[in-house]
Amino acid sequence: AAAGNKPQKTRNIVEKMEQSNKNCVVFYGSQTGTAEDYASRLAKEGKSRFGLETMVADLEEYDFDNLDSLGDDKVAMFVLATYGEGEPTDNAVDFYEFITAEDASFSQAADPPLGNLKFVAFGLGNNTYEHYNSMVRNVTKALEKLGAQRIGAAGEGDDGAGTMEEDFLAWKDPMWKALAEKMGLEEREAVYDPVFTVEEKEDLTKESPEVYLGEPNKMHLEGAAKGPFNAHNPYIAPITESRELFNVKDRNCLHMEIDISGSNLSYETGDHIAVWPTNPGKEVDRFLRVTGLIAKRDQVISVKPLEQTAKVPFPSPTTYDAVVRYHMEICAPVSRQFLATLAAFAPTEQAKAEMTKLGNDKDYFHEKITNRCFNIAQALEAVGGQDQWTAIPFSALIEGLNKVQPRYYSISSSSLVQKKKISITAVVESVELPGRDALKGVTTNYLLALMQKQQGVANPDPHGLTYEITGPRNKYDGIHVPVHVRHSNFKLPSDPSKPIIMIGPGTGVAPFRGFIQERAAQAKAGQNVGRTLLFFGCRKASEDFLYSSEWKEYEDALGDKFSLITAFSRDGPNKVYVQHRLLEQAKEVNELLEQKAYFYVCGDAANMAREVNAALIKITAEQRGIPDAKAEEIVKSMRSANQYQEDVWS
Ligand code: 2AM
Repeated sequence: AAAGNKPQKTRNIVEKMEQSNKNCVVFYGSQTGTAEDYASRLAKEGKSRFGLETMVADLEEYDFDNLDSLGDDKVAMFVLATYGEGEPTDNAVDFYEFITAEDASFSQAADPPLGNLKFVAFGLGNNTYEHYNSMVRNVTKALEKLGAQRIGAAGEGDDGAGTMEEDFLAWKDPMWKALAEKMGLEEREAVYDPVFTVEEKEDLTKESPEVYLGEPNKMHLEGAAKGPFNAHNPYIAPITESRELFNVKDRNCLHMEIDISGSNLSYETGDHIAVWPTNPGKEVDRFLRVTGLIAKRDQVISVKPLEQTAKVPFPSPTTYDAVVRYHMEICAPVSRQFLATLAAFAPTEQAKAEMTKLGNDKDYFHEKITNRCFNIAQALEAVGGQDQWTAIPFSALIEGLNKVQPRYYSISSSSLVQKKKISITAVVESVELPGRDALKGVTTNYLLALMQKQQGVANPDPHGLTYEITGPRNKYDGIHVPVHVRHSNFKLPSDPSKPIIMIGPGTGVAPFRGFIQERAAQAKAGQNVGRTLLFFGCRKASEDFLYSSEWKEYEDALGDKFSLITAFSRDGPNKVYVQHRLLEQAKEVNELLEQKAYFYVCGDAANMAREVNAALIKITAEQRGIPDAKAEEIVKSMRSANQYQEDVWS
């Protein structure tokens, strides 16, 4: 077609499948990319094990009014993440509304509108949230009510318990069995069947202008990146300030100011900033060495899909090095299934047997790999030597590993105070594990390296992680970081005179620094600001008391409207946590809640947020003289009315 006259992409899934000869569509509802990756894995496995003609589809890209005409010889798979407070992911909103509205309007008397549809379903959720896996549960219920036939059980993966991968593996085998039976599929010896081709280009070098060296898209390659900046198109933002917040040798917490004035990005107090990490040089080298690619890391390659519905997860032509450094999640814990698929490429019979054992024996895998949190290259090294895995096709690595996802941080500034500058407060993650060197958080260590570079630290790399931090092609002056903004519902009441209670231990204080900044500015401007209570906890007043000198300023502005209540867990003989302090303030807390104060919790989901919830129930029961069950109900209804809001992570 002539330029500007591209054929419109069809939104008709039936037509799309017929055009491309598919009989299995794997839809995903994904927010951070995990559900999308599981969908790709299902599609790939269906093809290699059962000869299904599979395709992966973003729920957002199709309409659903003709799902029923998929017909009996096809199957639809749904891989659905539940987001936040039981909501659909952004790309699944329309589908969810459609399918639940259909469900509501369906009268039992009519022919079931989806009587011909066969489906399977897997959900990704987190049991520390109240609406655990509600997406997959509600969609399954709605589809069944509309007459669709579910094959196998609807699976539920639990990120809260950290069992997502094993939940997925345990769900999919019986599902495949049921599906094979239903559709008369024959299982075959799984052979590696590439989805992509990788061609080494001898006519290009890494200096060629059309070669991508980490740039996320064409606009970036051409140096003219334009908005909208979003999850597909980051803004390369200057870091205008960075400093250490902790006062202790072996732990770091960063404060950074990200300047978005050169972009049309905007944010509101309480939003999240997404940061796109670069993999550390040490792990990039390990990966390239173990796969035998290190000598030709700068070789230009062109990667293309072998069929129309597959998408290469990065732009091409590029180099091995750039793909590994910027686009593949090489530092994540390796999955058991992926390791098993690589047995076929083992350098020795012994290594092959070991890989097969790791793939089949869950406990053995746990002991050897999961316990040490090994990434793919570390696992390959442990099994078969440092540079022996040269038989693995690069396409298999692209297909088997997840693509790099941005990481989200609660913004710690107020948009009222600094409209075009975003503050980040991030603790640098490093965990000691037996049998290996410290496990380093990818993004926070990348940010630490950026800070050290900016501060001109002579040897910025004590751990030898060696980040490439000037960015692809060194086009950017100074130091930049790729970002975008994600809007959240974690918001101050629109009326500043309303009281608020904030619980934010550790870096959970981040959004509340923004909240208080905002209220201090409002008070200075003469507005009537309501009672503002902050509960903050950390280990020691002298070590990790975040923004300890700043709170004074806000006190000056807010006067007795503001109270900071601290819990230092390691300064005294007993552990004191924010929930203990909350209980001590029971009377005022209850009074404020009765005046409809907003109650906010930010930080650790697994323990802290739960215990705070329990403390609040206790306070409500005791102060109001009501039974616990009644108090629990009241706290629940505070949540559904958005009076009780959480921004928590696990
Ligand atoms: P600790 O590490 O001394 O146990 C910020 O991380 C603060 O949160 C620290 O003081 C930490 O204390 C504390 N913390 C740890 N577990 C907690 C929990 N379950 N509830 C509340 N605070 C907790």
